[in-house]
Amino acid sequence: MPLTSKPLAPGTWPAFARLVEKHNGIFGGCWCISFHLEQGEKRHGASAYREMKRALVSQGRAHAALVFDGPDAVGWCQYGPTAELPNIRSRKAYEKGLGELPDWRITCFFIDRERRGEGVATFAMGEALKEIARLGGGSVEAYPEDYSGQKISSSFLCSGTLGMFEAAGFVKARKIAMHRWVVTKRILPDRGARPLAESRRLSQPASRGEPTSKPSPRVPARSSS
Ligand SMILES: CC(C)(COP(=O)(O)OP(=O)(O)OC[C@H]1O[C@@H](n2cnc3c(N)ncnc32)[C@H](O)[C@@H]1OP(=O)(O)O)[C@@H](O)C(=O)NCCC(=O)NCCS
Repeated sequence: MPLTSKPLAPGTWPAFARLVEKHNGIFGGCWCISFHLEQGEKRHGASAYREMKRALVSQGRAHAALVFDGPDAVGWCQYGPTAELPNIRSRKAYEKGLGELPDWRITCFFIDRERRGEGVATFAMGEALKEIARLGGGSVEAYPEDYSGQKISSSFLCSGTLGMFEAAGFVKARKIAMHRWVVTKRILPDRGARPLAESRRLSQPASRGEPTSKPSPRVPARSSS
């Protein structure tokens, strides 16, 4: 069956949750929350992260291109406005050489362990870029690993490979760890897309659902596609 994709949203949450539960919460309970956390934010356990993620999804504040094979989700590419994903890896080195923050980040991938090596992550990245275009486009950063064709543990590659991003037209901006690059690309808006700034004005401030009183960043509303 050909792969399809849908945005992570309340309607696709059950398929997303089944995939996470099949993999024991991902990393023993991350629930794909770690890139949403602010620096120094208190860490919680799997069940709290599940509820935090569900709250973010219901508020339209957790974006991902969720890949389906028939009714089953088989992977995703997480992306979002920078304020939605403040916590990147090698953050100190990143901040040292920082010029301007990008409009969007692509932070992580997760593919069903039974479906790896079939191009699902590459497909997910392409779908995430299409969703970004529908949401108004802009500058996009990602933080892939460059192991130059070596076979390594797939958990090291959760931010993707340099080769994947270069093949999609990203260019290297700077190195932030021995194997990790900042890569960038400008995505043009789709015709009829709602520009990011307009989406921000229209978005509602909302609680993330986690047990802290930190103010929430404003992020664009989700596209209806
Ligand atoms: C890394 C991962 C996303 C790759 O997904 P995938 O669908 O198998 O990837 P693709 O088939 O689209 O291949 C993409 C690229 O990754 C490379 N790749 C995939 N697994 C690799 C491995 N173990 N070692 C080296 N390269 C690898 C492929 O060769 C390909 O490279 P190229 O584009 O330069 O040719 C997948 O293995 C995964 O989900 N790992 C776990 C990630 C994780 O723990 N995420 C948790 C969230 S932080």
